[in-house]
Amino acid sequence: MSDSPKTMDDIVALCRRRGFIFQSSEIYGGINGFWDYGPLGTALKRNLKNAWWSDVVERELLGPDGEPIDIVGVDCTIIMNPKTWVASGHAGGFNDPMVDCRESKQRYRADHLVVLGRMAGDARLWAFVEGDDDARTRATKALCKYERIDAPGADHVLRPFTAISADERARCLGPAASEPGSLTEPRQFNLMFKTHCGALQDDDSMAYLRPETAQGIFANFWNVVDTSRVKIPFGIAQVGKAFRNEVTPRNFTFRSREFEQMEIEFFIHPSTAVEWYRWWRDWRFGWWQSIGLTSANLQLREHDRDELAHYAKNGAGTSDIEYRFPFTSPGYGELEGVAHRADFDLTQHANHCGKGEKMRYFDQARNERYFPHVVEPSAGADRGALALLCEAYTPDPSRPSGVVMRFHPRMAPIKAAVYPLTAKDGQPEIAERLYRELRRKHTIEFDEKQSIGKRYARMDEAGTPYCFTIDGETASTGSVTVRHRDTLQQERVAIDQVPTWLDERLGTA
Ligand code: GAP
Repeated sequence: MSDSPKTMDDIVALCRRRGFIFQSSEIYGGINGFWDYGPLGTALKRNLKNAWWSDVVERELLGPDGEPIDIVGVDCTIIMNPKTWVASGHAGGFNDPMVDCRESKQRYRADHLVVLGRMAGDARLWAFVEGDDDARTRATKALCKYERIDAPGADHVLRPFTAISADERARCLGPAASEPGSLTEPRQFNLMFKTHCGALQDDDSMAYLRPETAQGIFANFWNVVDTSRVKIPFGIAQVGKAFRNEVTPRNFTFRSREFEQMEIEFFIHPSTAVEWYRWWRDWRFGWWQSIGLTSANLQLREHDRDELAHYAKNGAGTSDIEYRFPFTSPGYGELEGVAHRADFDLTQHANHCGKGEKMRYFDQARNERYFPHVVEPSAGADRGALALLCEAYTPDPSRPSGVVMRFHPRMAPIKAAVYPLTAKDGQPEIAERLYRELRRKHTIEFDEKQSIGKRYARMDEAGTPYCFTIDGETASTGSVTVRHRDTLQQERVAIDQVPTWLDERLGTA
């Protein structure tokens, strides 16, 4: 193995080449901020969502006191009554500051732009997208050429675009502009996609595509309490699509306009908020590690008080589970947020639907009526899949593929391959029998074409942890060779033991 760095370009190229992720509607030139998953990517993302659902909803999960906790699932619509988004605050406040370039017609998130130059006087300034090292280098070179200096000095500063004045904006050259002064003043832009329900396209028929799955859960809180046997503390979970008209979708699938969330709203008595918040934060961090994000690239970051949403200011806390992606490095990008949302959402919906205090939950055990507080672990399935891809990607010049995808076996799109070494001596028939047997339970690859080296190389790129090869010895000894993806070790296993051997390794026995 080598220490060659992982670059995002290499990871994106592998995703395209091996069918993990494609641009949406690629044959028409794609569409910015939308991505399709190919066969391997679909299997990877499904493994991630299934693991989440299974570990959160289906399997026994023990809470902080060691007692099992109740979490039930819902599957709500993408389009909801538009009043939902007034109550949740999204209609009024789900905004990003946006800047247009009048010359290049590009649009930028104002809070993603930084400006380089001398703020004093009437010198020219250069704007570029923060974190884009090439753009920063270009801006620095342009500044030096313009001012006829070798390197920026102490009076050249970097300043957030949102912090510069109108005069400074007029002197500022946009990232894709040739003349200064083309960037507009930042203005708020609502991120919700709009559509219309029914034949008439007027204000009355307007609706939104949900920007988060959470509000479907909140709006159904009372239905779930009335129709199932859950009692506080309990959770409601949902996996589904969310849509945000991001001003600058970027970094592959990281910031998309259509993406999937895996959200839990966990309802609790207000006095237990600190305990539950800490428990969820730590359990969720451990969960990401358990599916393969074991490197130092995963971190837990507690928010500072001034970062918190208004309803969370006096709460138990908010933290982000973050991953150091190649495009954020040395910084991190958010995979999941764990937030104590207090009773904000339930009281908002109770008030906006007109029933108010009558909607308070009755806690029989405490003989008390109250609006439950909520701890919300909210994860992104696409960001999760992207982190798994980045973590797995391991350059290895000693292998024919030049790379091996070291997925955790639970996440691997293909669990094992079955190969006859040659097309002779009944090997294909034995291999096919074994393939069919394993296929009853797992996603298995069968391939009898090409050299064995090429077949192994394909499985290294797909991240398949085990390859079983039927060879000249199989007929006489009743054993096959197992090749381990990560160590390249080979061992022999009795063919009739292979299903159990594989189940034990995959934890599916
Ligand atoms: N209900 C809370 C909520 O939606 P959020 O931090 O806005 O919180 C939760 O989103 C998660 O959804 C993020 O941690 C991220 O993984 C994912 N996510 C948010 N915006 C995204 C985008 N534009 N593209 C891909 N994933 C996104």
